[in-house]
Amino acid sequence: MFGLNSRKDPFLKRPFCYFRKKRNTIDILYRVVGKVTTLMTGLRAGDTAEVMGPLGNCYPVEGVEGRKPIVLAGGVGIASVYPLLGALVGKAHLFYGGRTARDLLLTGELESLSSGLTLATEDGSAGFRGTAVDAVRAHLKGRDKRDFILYACGPNGMLKAASALGVDGYIASEEKMACGIGVCLGCAVRTPAGYKRACKDGPVFPIGEVLFD
Ligand SMILES: Cc1cc2nc3c(=O)[nH]c(=O)nc-3n(C[C@H](O)[C@H](O)[C@H](O)COP(=O)(O)OP(=O)(O)OC[C@H]3O[C@@H](n4cnc5c(N)ncnc54)[C@H](O)[C@@H]3O)c2cc1C
Ligand code: FES
Repeated sequence: MFGLNSRKDPFLKRPFCYFRKKRNTIDILYRVVGKVTTLMTGLRAGDTAEVMGPLGNCYPVEGVEGRKPIVLAGGVGIASVYPLLGALVGKAHLFYGGRTARDLLLTGELESLSSGLTLATEDGSAGFRGTAVDAVRAHLKGRDKRDFILYACGPNGMLKAASALGVDGYIASEEKMACGIGVCLGCAVRTPAGYKRACKDGPVFPIGEVLFD
């Protein structure tokens, strides 16, 4: 959870993924969408911010043996799966989607971290024309889905479509968060066992556990 402690507005911290670690720093990869991310662009070395974490769970990589990992990322969801690609030591096929080619970042680096990289854009400006989920569906056609394990992070619509692919695996919820520590219930996701908190019980959930409207 990242906030700017010198300011009362915006009051709430925002959730961000741990993207990558350098020697004495960690990097956050972010898209400018609102107040906090706009203010983040103005931060300079030596400025202070309020950071709480690490919080929540991670993608489990146990149980991958014998299955081919498919990693699916939409937009800035790539920040979440970037360390996962490292943990899967180059064995995953990455499907990375955006609206246009300009949305797709770090593609050269991502290629070296994965066994295959399929880009997908809705306007066809790079790679497969369509969504990244469409590209995964095409990849799975005629193959036994039990041979694969899927990891997905992106907007809710993408996670819903990914959950319906019929492949076992995990999704990372992008539910909005307020406290980040399981107290406010602002990040509730519906599951067959009642509501769970994306910040504390997730954000990673097994496919099938999150019920979409
Ligand atoms: C677990 C988790 C990890 C995240 N990791 C990252 C990350 O690594 N990098 C990153 O850039 N973002 C990440 N996000 C999303 C980020 O927290 C939000 O985009 C955040 O609200 C930005 O704050 P803001 O003040 O700039 O925008 P806000 O003022 O909060 O929102 C501005 C506009 O963006 C819309 N918006 C807010 N959140 C989202 C969203 N998730 N998807 C689409 N539209 C949204 C709002 O409805 C509003 O219209 C993550 C979210 C979660 C839950
Ligand atoms: S953000 Fe408060 S309970 Fe999850």
